[in-house]
Amino acid sequence: MIEVDGLTRLYRRGTLETQVLKGVSFRVRRGEFVVIMGRSGSGKSTLLNILGLLDRPDGGRYLLDGADLSGADDDARSAARNRKLGFVFQQFHLLERASALRNVTLPLLYAEQDSGDSTERAERALQAVGLTHRPRHLPSELSGGEQQRVAIARALINDPAVILADEPTGNLDAQNGREILEIFRHLVDGGRTLVLVTHDRAVAERGDRVLVLDDGRIVGEEAVPTPAAGTRSDAAGAV
Ligand SMILES: Nc1ncnc2c1ncn2[C@@H]1O[C@H](COP(=O)(O)OP(=O)(O)OP(=O)(O)O)[C@@H](O)[C@H]1O
Ligand SMILES: [Mg+2]
Repeated sequence: MIEVDGLTRLYRRGTLETQVLKGVSFRVRRGEFVVIMGRSGSGKSTLLNILGLLDRPDGGRYLLDGADLSGADDDARSAARNRKLGFVFQQFHLLERASALRNVTLPLLYAEQDSGDSTERAERALQAVGLTHRPRHLPSELSGGEQQRVAIARALINDPAVILADEPTGNLDAQNGREILEIFRHLVDGGRTLVLVTHDRAVAERGDRVLVLDDGRIVGEEAVPTPAAGTRSDAAGAV
């Protein structure tokens, strides 16, 4: 689903240069939950923004679902972003003056895909994250865990094959963090591909595979041991 090969990213301001990614290569299969773990400043968000087509690498190749987007123009990149990708961030990035339901429909508006059924679609997306009882609430009237559910529903509205999550439990307490990771696990069980970045080992252990990023390089890869039956919702095995 994702194939990156030798990705580099250099930030330059005046004479100040920071080589943030120094040749990153890996693959993610369809239906896999891959965690990129690394300490603060290791380049996780930089890498995820490139995977999300929000930023361009300086070098290397990026294939998404078989399409080489390395040299693609802005239109092709926006189209791929709208059709294939959903984003979830640490700061939920909800529109404060819009209801939960309205927030979820916004990507349809941006993608000019409003086919008249956007409310029903948003309701289904909210259902998928277990948030049906507060569709008219504003973000400020929702708990952190509820706001992150709205953000996940928004990420799902275009039915993306891939979800990219940057420290999605970073602003949540332990209980809400676990619930959000459960939702992600269900999405992966349903066939979606998930790439999640975190500095937190406890979060990383919820993935299928962990890539360790250090100073702009993948320095290790760990298969996550299968937990004892009953501790994870995919005891029967994911895709
Ligand atoms: N726009 C920029 N200009 C210059 N340097 C940048 C820029 N953005 C990020 N960096 C540098 O790139 C490095 C990696 O940043 P990045 O945000 O990818 O780290 P991270 O692994 O996500 O960290 P954290 O866990 O704190 O979110 C940092 O050293 C940062 O200072
Ligand atoms: Mg970051």
